[in-house]
Parts: sequence; C-alpha cells; structure tokens
Amino acid sequence: MAPQLATGSVASANFALFSIPLDLNLKVPTKLRSSLEKLFDLKLSDEFAFENATGKVGEIVEFPVSAPNSKIERILVVGIGSGSVEDYRKAGAALGRRVKGRENSITNAVSFAASKQGLIAHNVSLSLATYAWSRRVKTDRVTALETIDLVVNRPDTDAEIARAQILIDSVFAARDLIQTPSDTKSPAWLAAMAHSMVEASDDGALTVRVREERELAQEGFGGLLAVGMSSPKRAPRLVEVKYAPTGSKNWPHVVLVGKGIVFDTGGVSLKRPYDTMIPMKTDMAGAATVLAACVAMSRIKPRVRITALLGCAENALSATAQRPSDVIKHYGGTTVEVINTDGEGRLILADLLAYADIKLKPDFLVDVATLTGAASLGLGRQYSAFYTRDEKLATSLMRASNLSGERAWQMPLADDYDFVLESQIADFKNADTEGIIKAGSITAALFLEKFVGDRHWAHFDIAGPARSDSDSGENPKGGTGYGVRLLIEWLASL
Ligand code: BES
Ligand code: MN
Ligand code: ZN
Repeated sequence: MAPQLATGSVASANFALFSIPLDLNLKVPTKLRSSLEKLFDLKLSDEFAFENATGKVGEIVEFPVSAPNSKIERILVVGIGSGSVEDYRKAGAALGRRVKGRENSITNAVSFAASKQGLIAHNVSLSLATYAWSRRVKTDRVTALETIDLVVNRPDTDAEIARAQILIDSVFAARDLIQTPSDTKSPAWLAAMAHSMVEASDDGALTVRVREERELAQEGFGGLLAVGMSSPKRAPRLVEVKYAPTGSKNWPHVVLVGKGIVFDTGGVSLKRPYDTMIPMKTDMAGAATVLAACVAMSRIKPRVRITALLGCAENALSATAQRPSDVIKHYGGTTVEVINTDGEGRLILADLLAYADIKLKPDFLVDVATLTGAASLGLGRQYSAFYTRDEKLATSLMRASNLSGERAWQMPLADDYDFVLESQIADFKNADTEGIIKAGSITAALFLEKFVGDRHWAHFDIAGPARSDSDSGENPKGGTGYGVRLLIEWLASL
C-alpha cells in the first residue's frame, strides 16, 4: 500500500483541521486541493506540494498558504503510514501534540475517513493529545480540543463521529478526576462528582447511591472501613452508580468495580522511598474509569444493565489507621490478616467484589485497579495486567482492547502461588509476607479471586498505564484515563 497522508491546517485566528488520506504518487493531490479551496475559500498556490514528505506515520509537514478571503495561514500535513487503525491513532496523536495549546482558535475540523474505525481512532487520539490540566490559571483545565465539529464527505459516518465524541468526553472526565490533587479529592468529593456527572447526563436511566460510614458498618464493609477510617475527617464512601433504563429488568447485568483510593501513603506500612508516594493521587484511577464508562452508557444506550461500584477511601498514616497484623472482616464474613497496610486496594476490592457476588449477582463482574507496582515491573506502562479464567470473557474484552488501542496482556492466575496467602489466624493474609513468590500482581489477583464466587470475573491491574510520567503522545503527565474507551467499547458490544 502506498504511504498516505492526513492533513490539518493552522491559522492565527481561524484554525481548521483536516484528515484526508492521500496517495503520495499524486504530485498535487487534487482531491485535497479542491476540498480545501472549496471549504475555506482558499486559492492554493503551486508551492502546495509534497515533494519532501515521506508519509511516515506521525511525520508532520507544515505549508504556508496565502488565502486572501480566509484567515488560514498554514496547513499541516501528517503522515498516516499504512492507513491502519493503529496508524490513524498515532497520526491523530501527533497532530494533536502539534496543535496543543492553540485549540481555542479552532473553528472547525474536516475529516475524510478512509475507514470508520480509522476515523474514530484518529479523532479521539487527536483530541486526547491536546488535553492539559493545571491550577496555574483560573480554570482547572487550561485547554483541550473538546469538541470535534467534523464535516465528513461521507454521509454515513454520523455514528462514528458521535462515538468519537463520547469517547473523548469520557476520557476527559476520568482524567479531570485523576488529575485533581488529593487535598480537594476526598471520598465525599468523589461521591459528589459522581452525582454531578449523573445529573449532567440528564438521563433517567442513571442513578447514584452513596453509602457513608454508618451504613458501611451496618452492612459489614470491613475492608473499606479498615482502610478508610485512617482518615476520619475524609471518611470512606461506597458509590453505587446504576445504568438501568425502564424495561431493562431482564437484560444482562454487568458490575464494574473500581479502586478509589484518593491518596495512598501506604498507611502504617509507609511507602518508601517517600518519593514513591508523590504520584499516589492517581490511585483512584480505577474508580474514575468505571464511573466515566458507566455514565457514558446514557449516551450509547446498550441493552445491558450496569452497576459501577466505586470504593472510595484515603489510605492515611494516623492514630486511627489499621496496623500490620490486624484481622479484619470483609463483606460476607471472610476474615483477612493485614500483613501490609500498603496492600489496601485489595481490601477495598474484596468488600465490593463480595457485595457484587452476594447481593447484585451479576452476569459479568469486572474490576479495574491501580493495584500493584509489580504489574508495571513486568509489562511497563503500555499494558495493563489482565486476569480471568473465562476465555470467552477474555476474548470479548481483548477485542475491545484492540479496538480502543488500550493494550492489555493476559496474565496467569497461577494456583501454585496461592499458598503465600495462607494465614494461621484468619482465612487469608493480604500479602506475601516472605516475598517468596515475588509475582505481586498475580498474588494480588489470586487474593481478589477469593471474593468473586462463581461469577464470570475479570480483573485489570492498571498500575502501569493509568499514569504517565511525561506529557507525550495521547497522554498528559499524570492520569491517562486508561480503560475508559476499552470498557465503553466492551459494554457497547454486549
Ligand atoms: N497503589 C499501590 C500500587 C501502585 C504502585 C500503583 C505504584 C501505581 C504505582 C498499591 O496500593 C500498593 O501499594 N501495592 C503494593 C502491594 C504490596 C504491599 C503487597 C505494591 O505494589 O508494592
Ligand atoms: Mn498501597
Ligand atoms: Zn494503592
């Protein structure tokens, strides 16, 4: 296949973006030329050619244009490599990077889709790459290309454009929550944000219920309380968001569980070296992901009921913090000896998974959590560690992962590592004391599995991809919103 190009154009006041596949063999690409001239009332000179472009994915060439009747001053051309969906994604991110910070002058964008999935990938990545979050200025969000007002030269791509917009909005919503510093982000604040997101969705199908300490104690959420009461002024919350349109009673039911640790000091088993604590405002990324995905369903309207459970708590070092050696009782009665208070995520998830299994009895149970540093030791920052024993569920989730470009790698629930969770005084321990096994992400997954009964269950350990150390590609430094697109695509496919 000949290399292809997509184009975008930048002007000082009027700013337009284009995406169009071109064949490099055409010296003056007439289709692009006539489209640009017509759409923006330009008269392009003959300098407008591509002699030096190779069409390599992400390569950007900038052309000046003289356009007396238009404010457009420059045209950006970005290579889209083979024209595969993955290359459209990369090209979108490269174009987004280039225009980042200048989004306010964008008045419109034009996209000529080569493929529908390519169109979605390109436009989503383009927007995601422009995201910025800062408190340096009055507004929390500095800028972002939030709306892609696309004009497409194919009449039948409205659904793709709409889907791209939902994906963009949802990832931004999750990122906003993850980027927010923990002095603001108490468990109650997260619950309030869930309320306002549901209200803003303006859809009767979505409802929220928040449980506070008293109800959590009455119902036996011992893990959430043991962790969260380390910070009594910012006490834990269980946020339950439901998507259940009228008539949905007999539809399949999915429960999504998210780890919502608003800050993880490690507790009494304090994180060391201390620097490793700094990024821990992002330890609620799983909760943000499942919340954003569930809220998005009010716009996609799949024939599936969804309950998102957000286990929100702070893991603080205080006089009310749990101690290493405490024994706690989870929802449903299972007891756990807390060896390491930094293994707090699994204590919260245990309650929520057991509650889902015992009370909600879903057809599918999926949890998302920044659970272990070990997950990113093995797989780096580009893959989540994915666990399930259900190969059908694995296939459908991996298909969603391939579609969204958020990569996941299936890991083994290795039964012969399980013995490290044996306790002399309780049903289980929360961590591998002696460190004999070392496979921290796997032993964490084995721990969670003890609370899911016979459910069709899958677990994403997103400690790697949930956070980016640098502002690059699709991602800002900090929370990436990993998993939002994957879950939306999966739920929409059920
Ligand atoms: N939130 C951390 C996991 C984490 C580490 C996420 C680094 C992102 C980057 C989790 O609560 C944790 O502390 N896990 C421990 C588990 C151990 C105590 C069994 C870990 O990974 O060291
Ligand atoms: Mn921890
Ligand atoms: Zn944590």
